[in-house]
Amino acid sequence: MPHAREWAQRRLPRPVFDVVEGAAEREVTERRNRSAFEALTWQQPVGVQVGAVDTGTELLGQRLSAPLLTAPCGLAGAVHPDAEPGVFAAAAATGVGAVLSTTATRSLEQVAARGGHRDGWFQCYFLGGRSGAEQLLERAAGAGYRTLVLTLDTPVPGIRYRDAGHGLTLPMAYRVPTMARLAPQVLTRPHWLAGVARRPSTLGMGNGLHGVAGGGLDRLFAEVPTWADLAWARERWSGPIVVKGLTRVEDARRALAEGADAIAVSNHGGRQLDGQPATIAALPAIVDAVAGDVPVLLDGGVRSGADIARAIALGASAVMVGRAYLYGLAIAGEAGVRRVLELLIHELTQTMRLLGIADLDALRQVELNVTSASSFAAKASAEVTLRGVR
Ligand SMILES: Cc1cc2nc3c(=O)[nH]c(=O)nc-3n(C[C@H](O)[C@H](O)[C@H](O)COP(=O)(O)O)c2cc1C
Repeated sequence: MPHAREWAQRRLPRPVFDVVEGAAEREVTERRNRSAFEALTWQQPVGVQVGAVDTGTELLGQRLSAPLLTAPCGLAGAVHPDAEPGVFAAAAATGVGAVLSTTATRSLEQVAARGGHRDGWFQCYFLGGRSGAEQLLERAAGAGYRTLVLTLDTPVPGIRYRDAGHGLTLPMAYRVPTMARLAPQVLTRPHWLAGVARRPSTLGMGNGLHGVAGGGLDRLFAEVPTWADLAWARERWSGPIVVKGLTRVEDARRALAEGADAIAVSNHGGRQLDGQPATIAALPAIVDAVAGDVPVLLDGGVRSGADIARAIALGASAVMVGRAYLYGLAIAGEAGVRRVLELLIHELTQTMRLLGIADLDALRQVELNVTSASSFAAKASAEVTLRGVR
């Protein structure tokens, strides 16, 4: 997926790019998510030729062309007017899964109607407390969503200094003073301006509930989902329930005990508690503890098909990507998301060919080693020192 991030950066006004790219506090976790993938190495068994490669898999009763889903990300309408319906349509076209966020800029009904995605997943924040969530679940089931995601890592909004620096508040409000301050950056992005700014209504919360007191963040954080709500959701949702946002083995075990059908190892792309371990580093212990019982998904820092392959080799059933598809959305709307997803699948296929394996079961047997950049540097400098002595 070469240069997608850089192209997105050129397309988006800086404040909007930073909404996508930014993470909590010093953004240590976000960087760690990505660099941990780079520290994982494998060696190529040469002289092997595989014929057809099958990246397909079955996840929670759903057939996917690859172990890949688009993660729930709010605010897609700020990136491109194709917004969440475009993301769902692109996922459907490539045969991968898609998860809609409560904080989507379009309503879950609009996404279901346009997206053409059977078996969509819905990530439920308790917008308007439990009663609001109850209405959301009813609407989601009615619109055909089959799998529910409960994100448990967001009891408060993460501190995002990039957004604060630009004077942005959630839900995204392009007020006149803000727009005036941002004008120099916005005016140099004519494509974005022509698309998004002409349709400012797409920047709000598509799933906002009428008649619920309070606005924006008050409604989102007055009552957040906790462990107690798993049983509550179970009574109101007939499809699978996925708990998202875990990095600890204890929490993975608890999710199972409370009745989760799958878990998603995630630190919210580094956007909540900074200083957490990389998700790919947290994955193996969680897989050891629970993967025999339920599928384990992973997100955070996945930027290539080789990253997907590494996560599968370490025991993930599938991965979700967040920023990667938002870059595609920024570049070319729905077509851009489709291109990013196609490239990810192509890179995964190519990685499997180079490893000499034909399917995901074989990929799960591949051995990975950890070569941290610092230990490599230490070794290299030790060798230099030795040579110097000789
Ligand atoms: C702009 C943006 C908005 C997000 N909004 C949500 C959300 O509403 N609900 C949620 O569970 N996760 C949300 N996330 C986190 C993603 O679902 C996912 O965990 C994360 O993006 C994965 O990391 P990656 O971006 O490095 O792939 C958001 C992420 C981004 C970048």
